[in-house]
Amino acid sequence: MVVELRPLTTEDVEAHNAGEDELVVRWLTGGYGTIEGTAEHFAVLADNAAAGVGKRGYGMWVDGRLGGYVDFDPDLDDGLEADEVNLSYCVHPWARGRGVAGEAVALVCALLRSDGIGRRAAIRADPENDASLRVADKAGFRFVREFVSGTDRHPDGSPATLRLYLLDL
Ligand SMILES: CC(C)(COP(=O)(O)OP(=O)(O)OC[C@H]1O[C@@H](n2cnc3c(N)ncnc32)[C@H](O)[C@@H]1OP(=O)(O)O)[C@@H](O)C(=O)NCCC(=O)NCCS
Repeated sequence: MVVELRPLTTEDVEAHNAGEDELVVRWLTGGYGTIEGTAEHFAVLADNAAAGVGKRGYGMWVDGRLGGYVDFDPDLDDGLEADEVNLSYCVHPWARGRGVAGEAVALVCALLRSDGIGRRAAIRADPENDASLRVADKAGFRFVREFVSGTDRHPDGSPATLRLYLLDL
């Protein structure tokens, strides 16, 4: 299996949205993407990449097919120190269970190292999100603490508790 990260373009919008399921909505996005919303999101990522600022995101190509999404955000500070860079990811249902997320996380960490962005990579996951906790663990991140998020909320509006995992870059 070959996992590659590439920038996302308008040509990828449909395949990206088709890869969303209830787990992606529950643990990552909070709602299903629309054609317009996703295209706008990709445009923001392209602008950020060109300027070298803010959240930068990539598609995960698995053996040549779009199979997931990963981004890093040096500006996200919920539960994080200034030199910690948050990673977020999802893998399309057909590509799960093959270690794709871990490969993508390793590629992003290599990118952060080569570009000198941050000193630690961070994964913040809900204690009930077993698959994501496994990704952090298998990718060599260390569990640091559980904290009450100042931004993320449960569907009932109560603040979410997140587990923080860090990896030195
Ligand atoms: C979390 C996620 C990105 C993991 O991606 P992945 O490439 O399938 O990761 P792995 O292959 O390493 O599997 C991780 C765990 O998922 C579970 N898993 C295995 N096969 C699976 C499948 N077919 N479907 C769902 N989960 C599966 C297992 O618990 C596995 O742990 P293990 O390796 O100890 O058995 C993916 O499940 C996903 O997109 N979830 C929804 C979005 C999300 O939670 N994002 C993270 C927010 S913090």
